[in-house]
Amino acid sequence: MKTVGLDISAIRKEFPTLSRKVNGKPLIYFDNGATAQKPSSVIDRIDQYYRNENANIHRGVHTLSQEATSAYEEARITIQRYLNAKYEHEIIFTKGTTDGINLVAFSFGEMLNEGDEIIISAMEHHSNIVPWQMLCERKKCVLKIIPMDNTGELKLEELDKLLSERTKLVSVTHISNSLGTINDIKTIITKAHNAGAKVLIDGAQSVQHLKVDVQELDCDFYAFSGHKIFGPTGVGVLYGKEEILNEMPPFQGGGDMIKEVTLEKTTYNTLPHKFEAGTPNIVGGIALGTAFEFLNELDMGAVNQYEQELLNYATKQLSKIEGIKFYGQAKNKTSVVSFLIDGTHPYDVGTLLDKLGIAVRTGHHCTQPVMQFYDIPGTIRASFAFYNTFEEVDQMISALERIIPMLKD
Ligand code: ALA
Repeated sequence: MKTVGLDISAIRKEFPTLSRKVNGKPLIYFDNGATAQKPSSVIDRIDQYYRNENANIHRGVHTLSQEATSAYEEARITIQRYLNAKYEHEIIFTKGTTDGINLVAFSFGEMLNEGDEIIISAMEHHSNIVPWQMLCERKKCVLKIIPMDNTGELKLEELDKLLSERTKLVSVTHISNSLGTINDIKTIITKAHNAGAKVLIDGAQSVQHLKVDVQELDCDFYAFSGHKIFGPTGVGVLYGKEEILNEMPPFQGGGDMIKEVTLEKTTYNTLPHKFEAGTPNIVGGIALGTAFEFLNELDMGAVNQYEQELLNYATKQLSKIEGIKFYGQAKNKTSVVSFLIDGTHPYDVGTLLDKLGIAVRTGHHCTQPVMQFYDIPGTIRASFAFYNTFEEVDQMISALERIIPMLKD
């Protein structure tokens, strides 16, 4: 098998978790869609921060506080450069994708009026559905849905019919977490902008697979989580265009987001601080910068090609299993395979795979409307990262061949 210039065995050594055993078997970690493993550089950065550097940021004249502030702000610049954002203050640290979307739903949502329209798609994660439903209830706005077809592709011709002069925002996922579909967000962004609407892209499943350039995409917001891109949990990023972020009211009130407070009135801080109330996840932000430095060392074109080879190989080998049905067969897909096997329940398959050291996710993957569309309770999902191998795919296939007859008895 080609590894297109990536030294997979060297890369695997950077991820300590990959060398552990689960239930007496070497771990095969195929749940990267849920969260990715961490390289030693990220783990060491967290350790170093708490051992040597711990202090609050933006608040102290003392050395530790100034060092922590510099490290946090340098991480912001690393992320800005990676995403090719125009300004570093367009990078807002959040708790994760969900937090970023909720920030926009609340704050951008405050500027909407009764009857305004928001468009999402039929394949969204709950975190890109529920905040908009809550907003629509709060502001009496209207939520519209781009439908999808059986292969798991969005019917983009329907978007033209959904867009109107009342559309204020289109919020869609870059990559479906349960189906793997890579959406044609460039077309969505162009269509939405032509109609005068802003666009939020849920990038929770993208930055780890594709090189993202926010200026090239011309999206208005791009939200993602640190933990899925080899960084820590509890930290993420909301990119927003300066002009729009400046117009939006703050999301939360508290320390750091203010310029001046009297008991009568408060004026707000400039970007990005206006949207970062309270002591943030300082070590999380710093270590997220380290995760981006790790990504910087990789050729993302080669990563994408290798993951495509893994996806194609896994799909080909899995399709030999009798009674298998795939969910998500879009032409443009990332390394996610969702499937069911006749006569077995996904939870039973997932539990028995775990007994053999293989971690997959089973269930609705926080996309219940996708499961309702296919009229299934959930799927078995194997989601690959660049540290996975063809041999691991072979081992999953052998494991399934052992398990399925047991479950069908
Ligand atoms: N959204 C994450 C997943 O797809 C948790 O598994």
